[in-house]
Amino acid sequence: MCEAALSLSMSETETMQMQIQSFHSLFLISIFFSLLSISSPTHSLTLPSDIAALADFKSAITSPRRLSCLFTWNFTASDPCEFPCGISCARSDTNRYSRIIAITLDPIGYSGRLPASLGNLTALQHLDLSGNAFYNRIPGSLFTLPSLKTLVLASNSFTGPMPAPVVKPSALQKLDLSRNSITGSVPQFLSSLSSLTTLDLSYNRLSGPIPDTLPPNLVELALRGNSITGFLKQSAFTPLGSIQVIELAENRLQGKLESWFFLLPSLQQVDLSNNSFTGISVQSPTASNANQLVAINLGFNQIKGTLPVQLAQFGSLVAVSLRHNALTGPVPAEYCMAKKGVGFRRLLLDGNFLSGEVPEGFFEIKDFVGSFGDNCLERCPDSMAFCSPAQKPQSICKRK
Ligand SMILES: *[C@@H]1O[C@H](CO)[C@@H](O)[C@H](O)[C@H]1NC(C)=O
Ligand SMILES: *[C@@H]1O[C@H](CO)[C@@H](O)[C@H](O)[C@H]1NC(C)=O
Ligand SMILES: *[C@@H]1O[C@H](CO)[C@@H](O)[C@H](O)[C@H]1NC(C)=O
Repeated sequence: MCEAALSLSMSETETMQMQIQSFHSLFLISIFFSLLSISSPTHSLTLPSDIAALADFKSAITSPRRLSCLFTWNFTASDPCEFPCGISCARSDTNRYSRIIAITLDPIGYSGRLPASLGNLTALQHLDLSGNAFYNRIPGSLFTLPSLKTLVLASNSFTGPMPAPVVKPSALQKLDLSRNSITGSVPQFLSSLSSLTTLDLSYNRLSGPIPDTLPPNLVELALRGNSITGFLKQSAFTPLGSIQVIELAENRLQGKLESWFFLLPSLQQVDLSNNSFTGISVQSPTASNANQLVAINLGFNQIKGTLPVQLAQFGSLVAVSLRHNALTGPVPAEYCMAKKGVGFRRLLLDGNFLSGEVPEGFFEIKDFVGSFGDNCLERCPDSMAFCSPAQKPQSICKRK
């Protein structure tokens, strides 16, 4: 339950559906307008080298359907900046040519290899080819485009390691290559992308550790569903003063989560579930390191020790999952007592070896979602919804 609430993938699916819907209406509207304007003369407006690169891109694509955005791209009938869909252009005051600044294809299963000549579109700011079937390697030339701000190639069939481009000053703000089959490690060159705020490489086949340095202005880091190994290093994360979302679930990360991690100054949402973490150490935030943490998911690890009472001191924290770990000891009464903030709304602790009595306060909180089942707790009758499934048998609990 909590995993679903924290996961980015739900909202991703929703946005994709919205994109598909809005594409269909956009497509019909643009067909309508292109019919209206059919009598107007067409000029050659687009920079010739942009036209050549776009034509090269089109010839590399196979389209599954006739009713597609790409099908409307007719280079003999009109200038690319007048294509009814998929392209946005910018006019320059100083230049008689327009430049292509955005390419957004509809998600209908286009396939093909991306040609390196996409790197000739030097004014390109946005490239979104998500939800298709493009394959082979992502050309390194895309990372050298000086104006590119968003590169979204999510949900395709790209393979091979990420390119190792010659790094140039880059404007890239959002890089989403999630849901492909990219191999190799998270490349070190990303750390030189100083404008990058969103990095999503979730659901690929990445292995190896998290790089020692990360893009310094990251707000969202998502590497969910890979085979990433190693520890979370303080030297990699503490320079990230703006990081709000850390989504590293379903990997092979290990070691003890140290207190510095939960005190990253902008951190709001953490999902480290389904890894191999073995411990957790938490320090109370102080006035000087005020903290924004809202939700923590550490479910399905191998965390030993007792529940850190200091979590109750995080004023904005409302959702905590530590389900299916190896935690022992009591549920701190502080977790349900009135505290500075809004109080826990979701507390998932099932599947541990917690013992003692469930603090009475939990039975009184309104709108509380909890799961305390499958532990070694006393006074948690499985007739109470949040106490099911039943507690572990004595024989198992005694051994702990
Ligand atoms: C891309 O630019 C290179 C270097 O200017 C040029 O040789 C090549 O023909 C261009 N490719 C396309 C498809 O425009
Ligand atoms: C492209 O436009 C030309 C000129 O209007 C036309 O002859 C040709 O059939 C069009 N091609 C396609 C694939 O529609
Ligand atoms: C996490 O691991 C558990 C146990 O292996 C599994 O049942 C669950 O589906 C996993 N969750 C995700 C989101 O992969």
